[in-house]
Amino acid sequence: MKKLQLLFCGLLLSGSITTVYAQQSSRKQQMTELANKTLDLAVRQYKLMMQHVPDSMLPRTTNNADGSLVTAKTGWWTAGFYPGTLWYLYEYSKDNTLKQEALKRTAQVEKEKDNKGTHDLGFMLYCSAGNAYRITKDPKYKDVLLTSARSLSTRFNPKVGCIKSWDHGKWEFPVIIDNMMNLELLTWATRVSKDPSFDHIARTHANTTMKHHFRPDYSSYHVIGYDTTTGAVLARNTHQGANDTSAWSRGQAWGLYGYTMMYRETKDKAYLEQAKHIADFILGHPRMPEDLIPYWDYDAPGIPNAKRDASAGAVAASALLELSRYTKGEVSSRYWKAGEKMLESLASPTYLAKEGENNDFILMHSVGSLPHNSEVDVPLTYADYYFVEALLRYKQWAK
Ligand code: GLY
Repeated sequence: MKKLQLLFCGLLLSGSITTVYAQQSSRKQQMTELANKTLDLAVRQYKLMMQHVPDSMLPRTTNNADGSLVTAKTGWWTAGFYPGTLWYLYEYSKDNTLKQEALKRTAQVEKEKDNKGTHDLGFMLYCSAGNAYRITKDPKYKDVLLTSARSLSTRFNPKVGCIKSWDHGKWEFPVIIDNMMNLELLTWATRVSKDPSFDHIARTHANTTMKHHFRPDYSSYHVIGYDTTTGAVLARNTHQGANDTSAWSRGQAWGLYGYTMMYRETKDKAYLEQAKHIADFILGHPRMPEDLIPYWDYDAPGIPNAKRDASAGAVAASALLELSRYTKGEVSSRYWKAGEKMLESLASPTYLAKEGENNDFILMHSVGSLPHNSEVDVPLTYADYYFVEALLRYKQWAK
């Protein structure tokens, strides 16, 4: 009798495991189809965009006043996202037209490799030439990237333990949370060149940032102002957030992505823990909307009528999908499902542009800097880049 009962329980359990498994795999199948459909649209949008971006400029956003395309010069921090998105879309579609445009636009941005006046060289060159090198293996990109890493390293101050973000503003030595995103160029440079100095700078910057940028709840300040000679913290401020103590949404997403990436690059468990804490802060936030696309600041005035920031959603989605691979069980599944939900929301008509609209950007409804009334509720080139990256990651990792 006991044996029969055990057999019955075993059958019931295996039946429910099979049902859960079937549900998960049909969700993945449905989401993979959505990812393909969305990437197909993205390919068509970028092939339209190609036709009206001036040769000397790169697409940035839309002008709210008249709806026209706003472009940027190669020295602007977003210059690498258009070529980077083209490389991702070429990787997906194998469409040679996209490859030709990606080659041309990567070549256009390359000269910034000698630019020592910005911390954004990772964004500008790792997203463009980094993807070009990964996909084409052309050694000329390796030289561009190593030169960029050397330029970025000149901004490192060992006393502070950080790379200086800006040469402007009221701070002596400002470091913004966004700067975490530029470290991948450096860990890559050590791997390829065997020169340990790049990796040392990346780890030191990440460690210093972990110490000073985060509050006890693992939200982060946007800007920390350091004393150049003593390394002491002089100021904790915002630049693009609602106020100095608020949680600016894209900043939280940069931190999440940055520490997830640093764990991948170094296997240092402290970075993994930091990424998990940031993810838990975001996902457990009482003002995180149901569709998981954040307001532009978690403390924005006027919630629930505040503007959303699709770019923060896209960056966080890409990071959460990766973080789920470094965690186990229920935690991993929570991060995966959150990333999946963010992608589903972004791929819905609420955020996804119709073909031929939105100046041919893919996503609508991002916020660049609300306090400066700049780029409010517009498409942004980096929202597209991280959205496409996350869709490709989803397709690859859902398998
Ligand atoms: N790195 C600048 C921004 O996120 O707006």
